[in-house]
Amino acid sequence: MSKKKTKSKKVSSRKPSDSFESKDFLSLKELHPANLEFLFKLAERMKKDPAAFASKLKGKSLAILFQMPSIRTRVSFQVGIAELGGNSVYVDPQESPLGDRESVKDIARVLSRYCDGAVLRTYHHSQIEAFAQAADVPVINGLSQAHHPCQTLADLFTIREKFKTLSRINIAYIGDGNNVLNSLIYGSAKVGANLAVATPRGYEPSEEVLKDIKLITKESGSKITLSNNPFTAIKNAHAIYTDVWVSMGQEKQREQRLKDFQPFQVSMAILNKAPKDSVFMHCLPAHRNEEITEEVIDHPRSVIFDQAENRLHTQKALLTILLGRKKKR
Ligand code: CP
Ligand code: NVA
Repeated sequence: MSKKKTKSKKVSSRKPSDSFESKDFLSLKELHPANLEFLFKLAERMKKDPAAFASKLKGKSLAILFQMPSIRTRVSFQVGIAELGGNSVYVDPQESPLGDRESVKDIARVLSRYCDGAVLRTYHHSQIEAFAQAADVPVINGLSQAHHPCQTLADLFTIREKFKTLSRINIAYIGDGNNVLNSLIYGSAKVGANLAVATPRGYEPSEEVLKDIKLITKESGSKITLSNNPFTAIKNAHAIYTDVWVSMGQEKQREQRLKDFQPFQVSMAILNKAPKDSVFMHCLPAHRNEEITEEVIDHPRSVIFDQAENRLHTQKALLTILLGRKKKR
């Protein structure tokens, strides 16, 4: 089994690097800020000239194990792997449910003998961690209920593309304190962006994440603030972000959530009060006219489909970095 180094280090003293500290990409917690910038620069080059990177994963295979539905993550990974000259193997969750037919640990060990990496989507983050711990190859979190780090890569890359920087950019997040927000908090803290979060009471982001980022924000100068007022959050915002009110696995809470989140809808009322050059973001899938209105999704200031496209470019950069290392077999 490969040895992982996940302990956080003092963040200011490292140079950008073409290899990450951890063999895996499970959350943004483990990633050094300089490595994020390195990844964005690589993604930028890949977006401009995809052909120049066409054999980066030549001869490499990745397993895609998704226990929950996906359009963007699955397709962008499979297309990205193909564009880099690699091969992806989709494992049907009906045929091979993780930890049901056999243990997560055994699946991870077996797949490490065939594949050069794996992308997982599971409800419980601990399942991805257990898989990564047992696997000899890089493991990527394609969403768990706790984190969605690949989404944040595309989100920050999109903001960087629009505003040419991330440092001191003001992001407003309106909605649920969920996986997408947890990852956005880590990402914003690391790149020195400010994040103003507005959630209904009782739907705040993970306390563990908020505690965790204290040292990071101290070093980066990023300000992460919480409130229960969307109009407070959008003051001076460059980017306004929302996500669904009912995430995968929360379907039974739907009725209550729809009531609790109603005042947090991103509508023209928000758009009209926001700074004129601000952009609107959503990780998708969106429930049109629920958490975000039709007019806002399709508004010229919406960058939602650029965000979706950028999943492809940022994940290609991620794959190239993670799989570019020598394999331990
Ligand atoms: N944004 C996102 O992860 O979309 P999918 O659930 O369709 O992969
Ligand atoms: N928070 C959402 C994100 C989907 C990409 C969910 O977990 O369902």
